[in-house]
Amino acid sequence: MDTKTAIVYYSAHHGNTKRLLDAIKKEDLSIKLIDVTKTPIFDLSEYKRLGVASGIYYSGFSQEIYQFMENNLPAGKQVFALYTAGILRKGYTRDVQIIAEHKKCVYLGEYGCRGYDTMGPIKFIGGINLHHPTQEEILKAVIWYRSITPNDAF
Ligand SMILES: Cc1cc2nc3c(=O)[nH]c(=O)nc-3n(C[C@H](O)[C@H](O)[C@H](O)COP(=O)(O)O)c2cc1C
Repeated sequence: MDTKTAIVYYSAHHGNTKRLLDAIKKEDLSIKLIDVTKTPIFDLSEYKRLGVASGIYYSGFSQEIYQFMENNLPAGKQVFALYTAGILRKGYTRDVQIIAEHKKCVYLGEYGCRGYDTMGPIKFIGGINLHHPTQEEILKAVIWYRSITPNDAF
């Protein structure tokens, strides 16, 4: 059936991004979560939309996520993006959108929030964004997901 959502994720730093997905999946148990490090190849033909979710690494999504889209995303699907980052700014989903466009998919939008970050020297000061994503940021991700899937039954 062509009504379902799959979300492929890479959340290796602190599991920050995965926390958003776990909350979204709690709301909609039919969502298929795909850990890209374990499942780089996946048949998406029966899915209506693909979510891509990642911590931000060097100003973009994980390379594995891009590779997954290149290898598995059929034309005509809906695509949305979720991320957590040390520092919020625009542009992190640029390459996701480019690949989705090349694949003739429809880009639904994105949700991003801050995530605990201990990358590089900042680990010596205990990192930044301790306790992020917060419960409020997680709830906002769920509400945002509902807003892009208004016709799905929860
Ligand atoms: C190797 C590495 C590179 C990172 N690069 C960036 C970056 O360019 N911009 C940013 O805002 N955060 C950066 N971060 C911080 C992560 O995006 C942030 O901690 C995120 O919440 C990690 O998500 P995860 O726990 O789901 O992997 C980086 C973290 C790591 C480990």
